[in-house]
Amino acid sequence: MTQKIKNICCIGAGYVGGPTMAVIAQKCPEINVTVVDINEKRIAAWNDENVENIPIYEPGLPEVVKEARGRNLFFSTEVDAAIEKAEMIFISVNTPTKTYGIGKGMAADLKWIELCARQIARVSVTDKIVVEKSTLPVRTAEALKSILENTGNGVKFQILSNPEFLAEGTAIEDLMAPDRVLIGGDIDTVEGKEAVQTLVDVYAHWVNRDNILTTNVWSSELSKLTANAFLAQRVSSINALSELCEKTGADVTEVARAIGMDSRIGSKFLKSSVGFGGSCFQKDILNLVYIAKSFGLDEVADYWEQVIIMNDHQKRRFAANIVQTLFNTVSGKKITLLGWAFKKDTNDTRESAAIAVADHLLYEQSNVVIYDPKVTSEQIYTDMVYVNSRSEEENRDLLTVAIDPYEACQNSHAIAILTEWDEFKTYDWQKIYDHMLKPAFVFDGRNILDVKKLEEIGFVVNSIGKN
Ligand code: NAD
Ligand code: UGA
Repeated sequence: MTQKIKNICCIGAGYVGGPTMAVIAQKCPEINVTVVDINEKRIAAWNDENVENIPIYEPGLPEVVKEARGRNLFFSTEVDAAIEKAEMIFISVNTPTKTYGIGKGMAADLKWIELCARQIARVSVTDKIVVEKSTLPVRTAEALKSILENTGNGVKFQILSNPEFLAEGTAIEDLMAPDRVLIGGDIDTVEGKEAVQTLVDVYAHWVNRDNILTTNVWSSELSKLTANAFLAQRVSSINALSELCEKTGADVTEVARAIGMDSRIGSKFLKSSVGFGGSCFQKDILNLVYIAKSFGLDEVADYWEQVIIMNDHQKRRFAANIVQTLFNTVSGKKITLLGWAFKKDTNDTRESAAIAVADHLLYEQSNVVIYDPKVTSEQIYTDMVYVNSRSEEENRDLLTVAIDPYEACQNSHAIAILTEWDEFKTYDWQKIYDHMLKPAFVFDGRNILDVKKLEEIGFVVNSIGKN
């Protein structure tokens, strides 16, 4: 018999925990969902009276939060209380690449996951289902089980893996109509099967049961890393071809269209770009590489590592092309970067290709000006501190964040499009051209602008994968 869940707790109110729990709460009004976090500022923003001020910019999210918040959706810093009350606990904390010790620069840092497990074990006085929502290395559930069982109060824990496949910018659409929901559990035991079924029943409030896939825990954990590796691999594949297109006169958009119409290949994830960003592709592939290496599977590791090598190359060559095209020097030249977020419709900047491009241009002593419709200047300066040896003061001297795109482009030598924000397509490009230094260059790192139209105005246009 499956358990009826009355209270869910989610540890981690980030890009995954916040939207995922908001949708569960909206779709399951009889379940109380409490999202907890140690970051007080973040929780305060989730509780902001004005729903437009929630900490994550995600189309459709404010409406969902508005409907459920205060009814059966709660955001709180009282982690212990929420754990104690819940029958089901999602762990949705960050799992970044390790920056120290063994596995530095490759393995996932699981210290926040372990802290959660120890806290759950300490606080729990009733049986719980613990759900891995964070992306984790295969066999992490084993470590969780060991911590929970050895440090707990003798209560029983079932551990499930339920990786999240939402993409930022389309999170609400993805959560409302997922291609599939994946649930891994201990399906060899009666208790394990029941726990899996309990979570299936939560999702079945709005997801067709045929789209809810159940597997063993290890398949579920590994499928998440594999999905991200395959998606990123497609981007690196098309980006590798973009360089060849530029040399041969082929047009990468035409090539992508031609191959994408083959139903075996498919049309998605074939947009050539300045390089993929985001908090997960690089981290998850590095983690996969690390796991393969730790089993001595060097060929497997090298194969996947090449996806990252190609991506780093794409970012570097985009910046180098700007320098080369601007007569081999950008020293003292104003260059405007349009877009800082790692993709459109999000304010997330983690691992954004824009950071690497800006760093390269600053290294060449360029005067870099940035405009992004959703990213704050504070965020941009913080991002720059992490990637280079310049102090925050130096970054503030060398790099300007503009609040108006036309002002950002005024007296510029070149504009680089780094995020595919729709609003860039609607600008008055004649007006922008009139106020730039000549020759006026555009480097379209996203292939979103109408090259012919820009050339008619007088711009010299360089688009990824076109010559
Ligand atoms: P995030 O950094 O936005 O959010 C994580 C939150 O967890 C932070 O607010 C942090 O303060 C909180 N936290 C950390 N330790 C805590 C603790 N002990 N107690 C309470 N709160 C704690 O991260 P995210 O983007 O939401 O990603 C979370 C996980 O989901 C990662 O493993 C990631 O790989 C995975 N994932 C992310 C996405 C995405 O689009 N961002 C998509 C699918 C999967
Ligand atoms: C990605 C996956 O798409 C999600 O399924 C997954 O849940 C998530 O990672 C995660 O695990 O964090 P996300 O990073 O939010 O989602 O966004 P994507 O749409 O995948 O884009 C990632 C990067 O690739 C962006 O920089 C994007 O601009 C770039 N990209 C994507 C391209 O350059 N070309 C494309 O054709 C597609």
